[in-house]
Amino acid sequence: MKTPLAIKVHSLCKSYREKDPLVILHNVHLEVEQGDSIAIIGKSGTGKSTLLHILGTLDRADKGEIEICGKKVFSSSVSSIRSMHIGFMFQAFYLLEDYSLLDNVLMPAKIARHPTHKQSLHYKRCVGLLEQVGLLSKANLLAKHLSGGEKQRAALARALCNDPDILLADEPTGNLDPHTAKAIQALLFATTQKRGKTLILVTHDSEMVEPCKRVYQLSEGTLQQIK
Ligand SMILES: Nc1ncnc2c1ncn2[C@@H]1O[C@H](COP(=O)(O)OP(=O)(O)OP(=O)(O)O)[C@@H](O)[C@H]1O
Ligand SMILES: [Mg+2]
Repeated sequence: MKTPLAIKVHSLCKSYREKDPLVILHNVHLEVEQGDSIAIIGKSGTGKSTLLHILGTLDRADKGEIEICGKKVFSSSVSSIRSMHIGFMFQAFYLLEDYSLLDNVLMPAKIARHPTHKQSLHYKRCVGLLEQVGLLSKANLLAKHLSGGEKQRAALARALCNDPDILLADEPTGNLDPHTAKAIQALLFATTQKRGKTLILVTHDSEMVEPCKRVYQLSEGTLQQIK
């Protein structure tokens, strides 16, 4: 039996600037089965973050269709599809610096209007996630007082808060020392594989690419499978 698709994109196009357009994506097709892990590589400025934001429904393509877990993405369905199916680790963390670590990790649940009191499912899950990423003892610390590696681990816990089917991670080991990068990598694959999540990774790090089932290169608007 065919494994259901987590993501299906068809004829995706994206350009910036009205005059003299900068073509980022040109008729991009991509199908990712549920539970698969794929890496997207490419030179700086080729559009990897843009593609990931579009896959995560945070940015809009100019043309093309996106299906997330079998649901077509329309402007009216974007926010519910996002909170139900997608977790995002951003290239620049985007933690709320003046909120505690726990409040940051709970934020996706609050945005989706899920209960977050101490007995709630989401609260308990987030405490468990903080334990898994080794940050439970820092739950009440303000995000601005976390180190870079701790912020990245916090970003992973936050991305998993709503138990999403798909985790999109943009350079999750960028700017980290090799030791911390290895720890984040192990955590990322362990947390996603154990839970049967789909992982789409943008990275320059060859060690991150290695465990991925398929690898794509983005170049001049085209996504080409290279592994
Ligand atoms: N809102 C925007 N308006 C105009 N140009 C943009 C906008 N966002 C991104 N770009 C341009 O689109 C191109 C692709 O940007 P993107 O951030 O997706 O690249 P990237 O492959 O993720 O690069 P890096 O590896 O450095 O993170 C860049 O040239 C960037 O300047
Ligand atoms: Mg980028």
